[in-house]
Amino acid sequence: MSSAVAHTGDVHLRAADESDLENTLAWQREPGTRQYFRQPNPPTRAKHEAWFRKRLSRPEPALWIVEVAGQPVGTVRLDARGGPDCARYEVSILIASAYRGKGIGVKALNCLRLAHPNANLVATISPENKASIATFIRAGFRQIAPEYYEARPLSGGNAADYTRTGDEDDN
Ligand SMILES: CC(C)(COP(=O)(O)OP(=O)(O)OC[C@H]1O[C@@H](n2cnc3c(N)ncnc32)[C@H](O)[C@@H]1OP(=O)(O)O)[C@@H](O)C(=O)NCCC(=O)NCCS
Repeated sequence: MSSAVAHTGDVHLRAADESDLENTLAWQREPGTRQYFRQPNPPTRAKHEAWFRKRLSRPEPALWIVEVAGQPVGTVRLDARGGPDCARYEVSILIASAYRGKGIGVKALNCLRLAHPNANLVATISPENKASIATFIRAGFRQIAPEYYEARPLSGGNAADYTRTGDEDDN
């Protein structure tokens, strides 16, 4: 398996690979997981496979697998915003239901910030998704608009304004 990029305690991130296809589909299909997503219905296998392979084909690590003691337990997804030269990413996180409420989501986001110290990370979160809001806030994000949260670069760089482009990938 590929090496970890960042650790926070026993939680680390690694780049997704072909072996993660089934796990990522199963997590998407867990009841309630997508209830606050822009597209709440779980994907079909065909749609997920197409989406997953497209993700893996991207040059940057656009899909991280969250692992606890070597066990895959979720994903952190990044979508570049504002053009190829802008270190600004929209973040989406999913932890498998059996592993929620154990502090893993916060540690995974902390890992993400360590892995992308120069990036301005942003998140769009439904006001009803209390677990997600608490997780992002605990990981150092702050609310900048009713549904928008941001974490400034750890390196101290300047954060750009976050503007939704309308082409957000919400699989
Ligand atoms: C959101 C999610 C990633 C959180 O992951 P997690 O590992 O359970 O989160 P943690 O255990 O690190 O908890 C982080 C904070 O959220 C709080 N929290 C967890 N579940 C909660 C819930 N159901 N309601 C309210 N707060 C909750 C915790 O108390 C903790 O806050 P605290 O430190 O102030 O006590 C997880 O619930 C998930 O995958 N949900 C489905 C997918 C989703 O909605 N993703 C977000 C899209 S942006």
